Amino acid sequence: MSLSITSSVFLKSGQRIPQIGFGTYESTSEEAYTSVKQALEAGYRHIDTAEWYENEEACGSAINDFMAQSGVPRGEIFYTTKLMANDGLEHSRKAIRESVRLSGLGYLDLYLIHGPYPHKEGRLASWQAIEEAIDEGLIRSAGVSNYGIRHLVELSSTKHPVSVNQLDLHPFMQRREDVAYNKQKNISLEAWGPLARAMRFNNPILKRLSEKHAKSPAQVLLRWSVQKGYIPLPKSVKRERLEANKNIFDFELSQDDMAELDSLDEYLVTDWDPIGDASV
Ligand SMILES: NC(=O)c1ccc[n+]([C@@H]2O[C@H](COP(=O)([O-])OP(=O)(O)OC[C@H]3O[C@@H](n4cnc5c(N)ncnc54)[C@H](OP(=O)(O)O)[C@@H]3O)[C@@H](O)[C@H]2O)c1
Repeated sequence: MSLSITSSVFLKSGQRIPQIGFGTYESTSEEAYTSVKQALEAGYRHIDTAEWYENEEACGSAINDFMAQSGVPRGEIFYTTKLMANDGLEHSRKAIRESVRLSGLGYLDLYLIHGPYPHKEGRLASWQAIEEAIDEGLIRSAGVSNYGIRHLVELSSTKHPVSVNQLDLHPFMQRREDVAYNKQKNISLEAWGPLARAMRFNNPILKRLSEKHAKSPAQVLLRWSVQKGYIPLPKSVKRERLEANKNIFDFELSQDDMAELDSLDEYLVTDWDPIGDASV
């Protein structure tokens, strides 16, 4: 069967996740509501938000309104949110409940620890709260974000699996050692900043491949991500862009094209870089 915007892959938890997600970082509540609704109308079935983004309620409302209007059931939509601070067991328990409440969706398909700050004790307390919430049915699958190998080893014998690590992954930031380790542990890699946050669309190799395939640089970057087996989370608050970003299933990058993109690794930090911060 050919791939499409609703194609999904299995997580270690056994749950399916649509391979293309939709990002909402830096979207105001108003932008998040409108863009998530437009994304769902365009066929996206996987929404990524976070406590940090202060738009969880807007994302949840957009999903609920879309379901009511379209008849698409809750089970066909995949909703992810993230814990902002590893601030102790009680804090994390409360934050999870608050995220479930704000979403209005009854449960979270995926819940991630947003980053490894500030220390091991905080990270492990958060993970304990997450496992409790899985047992209570509030969370279906769990994972982490911006975790380096040194952080993942702390979670080597958990009750529930670490299903996902969400990392900044694109040709200009490839994190090869981390990718290899996560693959070895069967942890699915979600790619944040899959468009390199629009910082490299003028790269000559990217431009040439874009002309060769008659696709935009954004579409080439997303195709690279899918062919790598990642789960990219492109964000746009513009309807025409979010529509275009999903049209990546009618062309294929050759091995040579992939190798050319692979040659672009430059450790480009587009936002934050907890893995590169030796203090954590
Ligand atoms: N776990 C983490 O620490 C972390 C960190 C960052 C992001 N994330 C998640 O990953 C998602 C994606 O990352 P991101 O939002 O940082 O970056 P991104 O998706 O790589 O890039 C988004 C930027 O590209 C622009 N854009 C989108 N489509 C375009 C197109 N076709 N042509 C030209 N420009 C285009 C967007 O502008 P417009 O909106 O104006 O179109 C926006 O400025 C986030 O939204 C968030 O859900 C997670």
